[in-house]
Amino acid sequence: MATKTSDTKDNNTTSSTTTSTGAAIGTATSTSAKKTTAVDNATVKESDMKSSPLHKFFVSSLKDIYYAENAIIDALEKMQDAATTEELKEAFEDHQLQTKKHISRLEKVFKLIDETPEKKECEAIKGIIKEGEEVIKSTEEGSMTRDAALIIAAQKVEHYEIASYGGLAQLAITMGHDKAADLLERTLQEEEDTDYELTEIAETYINFDAEQED
Ligand SMILES: [Fe+2]
Ligand SMILES: [Fe+2]
Repeated sequence: MATKTSDTKDNNTTSSTTTSTGAAIGTATSTSAKKTTAVDNATVKESDMKSSPLHKFFVSSLKDIYYAENAIIDALEKMQDAATTEELKEAFEDHQLQTKKHISRLEKVFKLIDETPEKKECEAIKGIIKEGEEVIKSTEEGSMTRDAALIIAAQKVEHYEIASYGGLAQLAITMGHDKAADLLERTLQEEEDTDYELTEIAETYINFDAEQED
């Protein structure tokens, strides 16, 4: 930013010293001065954007979901170990891999808006994960009831993510961060697909088998 300001000064100096040397040079100099002004305006716009309350909220929400995604990685590990059926274990394993992709996408989003990836402790996801741990404690190992309950616990995680990414993608569009919006929408789509797959697994046989248990 400092360099751009000094460029402007240099151009202005050149402009005032070359005015008398001819119209052609004068025109060229004023064009370059115009360009510099455009760059300066962009810089001013960027700093305006960064201090806007909506931008601050957007960044804070990104930090929240960045914390959440990292917390989910560990939670999915525990849920995978606790699940009864191979199908659910695999679903959790796939989702863990996908979560790693979501984390790296978020890091790209931070970079695109010139911000540093940071985690902001998210009480909501901590609570949802804690509920998942309680499901494991309160259901019998090897039972289908455990899987039926774990699926619901995992879907609560998904719905938190869907709400977060849905809102963030819309804000990114509104603020003109098109590339960031595209990345956020891709993750949103994957969260929605996971939610749908979990419903499918539950409805195919897990819920019915769980109902037969006593
Ligand atoms: Fe995710
Ligand atoms: Fe997810």
